[in-house]
Amino acid sequence: MNKVVLISGASTGFGRSISKLLTSNNFRVYGTSRNPKKYNDFEGIKLLRYDLTSFKDSKSLVEKVLSVEDKIDILINNAGSGFAGPIEEISIEDAKKLFDTNFFGHIDLIQSVLPSMRKNKNGLIVNITSIAGYNNIPFGSVYCASKYSMECLGASLNMELKDFGIRVVNIAPGDYRTEIFDKRIKLELDTNSPYYNKYKKFTEISKHNMDTQSRDPEEVAKLTLKIIQSKNPGIHYKVGHFLQKFSISLKKILPEKLYQKLMMNHYKI
Ligand SMILES: NC(=O)c1ccc[n+]([C@@H]2O[C@H](COP(=O)([O-])OP(=O)(O)OC[C@H]3O[C@@H](n4cnc5c(N)ncnc54)[C@H](OP(=O)(O)O)[C@@H]3O)[C@@H](O)[C@H]2O)c1
Repeated sequence: MNKVVLISGASTGFGRSISKLLTSNNFRVYGTSRNPKKYNDFEGIKLLRYDLTSFKDSKSLVEKVLSVEDKIDILINNAGSGFAGPIEEISIEDAKKLFDTNFFGHIDLIQSVLPSMRKNKNGLIVNITSIAGYNNIPFGSVYCASKYSMECLGASLNMELKDFGIRVVNIAPGDYRTEIFDKRIKLELDTNSPYYNKYKKFTEISKHNMDTQSRDPEEVAKLTLKIIQSKNPGIHYKVGHFLQKFSISLKKILPEKLYQKLMMNHYKI
């Protein structure tokens, strides 16, 4: 029987590429979007309405899938949002909103999917985290923290679920051409802000990197397919430009002050 996949955030970016690739490989894919009517070219992929931050819809989302299918084999926690800003000037509301989307919403959906996976004594949970979840980016602390948190959640959860035949895998991508930069929670600083010039430079460099160095999300979709098809997947995967992956090793081996200097030089702050 074809495996059933539930993937959050399938309307654009990684979610869209992963959904298309899995569907063309005969998986039965259920994706989500907050506004599924906006997207009408999703042959073979059912796009269901779902907002991760609602904390009341995850059970009905799972029930909807299970009313058609008798199981969910794979849950891909992909939906997410970007956010940057100096800690002194961001609002607690925005920081919480980011964590609701990138962390707590995934816990909520995992909780709703787990009973059926445990009943089947089988399941795979894939978290799309980020290389930012291994690094420290100036002005990116809240986003990095949300991705660190998902990395930690995935690795801990994998131990909790092993006896139930359920595996958890984290995929940490570098920069890819998706809509994340344009759709991020935006923060405009007042020109009088003491952070104005540095934050402006950081935003320009981040955008320049995204425009010139980001890669095709199909790469992440192919890795996801390979992991799903593997009999014995690992726990942590990194995917992206060599230098971005190498930055994780550099952080481990370099004295921290030197690593921070390199990051500050990179973002010219
Ligand atoms: N692109 C990169 O360079 C990169 C690098 C590392 C990690 N990531 C991670 O990859 C994941 C996918 O992002 P992407 O780059 O593909 O960006 P994207 O094109 O902006 O896609 C984000 C997806 O998440 C959904 N989404 C956003 N907020 C949501 C919410 N509150 N409830 C439900 N769905 C929500 C969006 O759906 P709707 O707007 O249709 O609801 C969309 O399908 C994210 O977790 C992101 O942090 C991206």
